[in-house]
Amino acid sequence: MAYETLLFDVTSGLARVTINRPDKLNALNGAVLRDLGEAAGAVARDVGIRGVILTGAGSKAFVAGADIAELTTQGPMDGKARAQAGQAIFRAFEHLNKPVIAAVNGFALGGGCELAMACHLRVASDTARFGQPEVKLGLLPGYGGTVRLPRIVGKGRALELLLTGAIIDAAEALRIGLVNRVVPAERLMDEAEALARSIMDQGPLAVRSVLEAVDAGYEMSQADALLLESTLFGLLSSTDDMREGTRAFLEKRKPAFEGH
Ligand code: COA
Repeated sequence: MAYETLLFDVTSGLARVTINRPDKLNALNGAVLRDLGEAAGAVARDVGIRGVILTGAGSKAFVAGADIAELTTQGPMDGKARAQAGQAIFRAFEHLNKPVIAAVNGFALGGGCELAMACHLRVASDTARFGQPEVKLGLLPGYGGTVRLPRIVGKGRALELLLTGAIIDAAEALRIGLVNRVVPAERLMDEAEALARSIMDQGPLAVRSVLEAVDAGYEMSQADALLLESTLFGLLSSTDDMREGTRAFLEKRKPAFEGH
């Protein structure tokens, strides 16, 4: 499928979604959000896709935020609707039961930082910069920043970033746990792909179940989340993949998972 503002390709089950507005630092305007929503749906429906890398075109920015030019005319109800629509699209990526990795190739500010946080894992280039500068615009993050940032880095660190609008470098992002790893810029896509493939090599049903357990379990009481975990554990115990994985261990060979 062709998109107006995205590049989309799939190689051996790994989809690469590239936000392609480099002259505007890949800012999220209505067209990008619409395309991202369609891409999330396409990835969810395609059983041949088993992993996703989300990145930005050019060497300067992953995404420099919501398109500020589009914000200037919005009223209260448009603003709320815009935030909810964006939240639903980001949630669609977070909710995918295939690993989604943000390859952060430069500025990830505002909605860009929020989009990276909605991905399951974040690999940053050493040139990446992160921040939630909305307070500088008289706004607060509208695509999940006040919700996901405290959950990822802790409330105190999140509040400092949210309240000051400070921009931090990749090393600081790694130190506070905002990203999983930092790599040299020229290695970014290879490292993101290697990480994706290291997940795609595992039992496919097990990977799906981990994503489901953590995604749904995060919203539940501990008792309900433990019940979900044990139920998924029981379900996996009935799969050929589980039998193959355990047998391969005992036979000291690599498992050949088939996803059933
Ligand atoms: N929305 C709309 N346009 C944006 C944008 C955004 N969030 N971020 C960058 N752009 C545009 C600039 O207006 C400029 O367009 P122009 O060439 O037509 O003038 C182009 O992208 C390049 O950006 P520029 O600001 O010239 O680059 P820079 O290297 O001087 O600064 C940033 C880079 C990221 C520090 C700066 O662009 C910035 O602060 N962006 C806004 C970040 C932000 O507040 N995001 C949260 C939005 S809610």
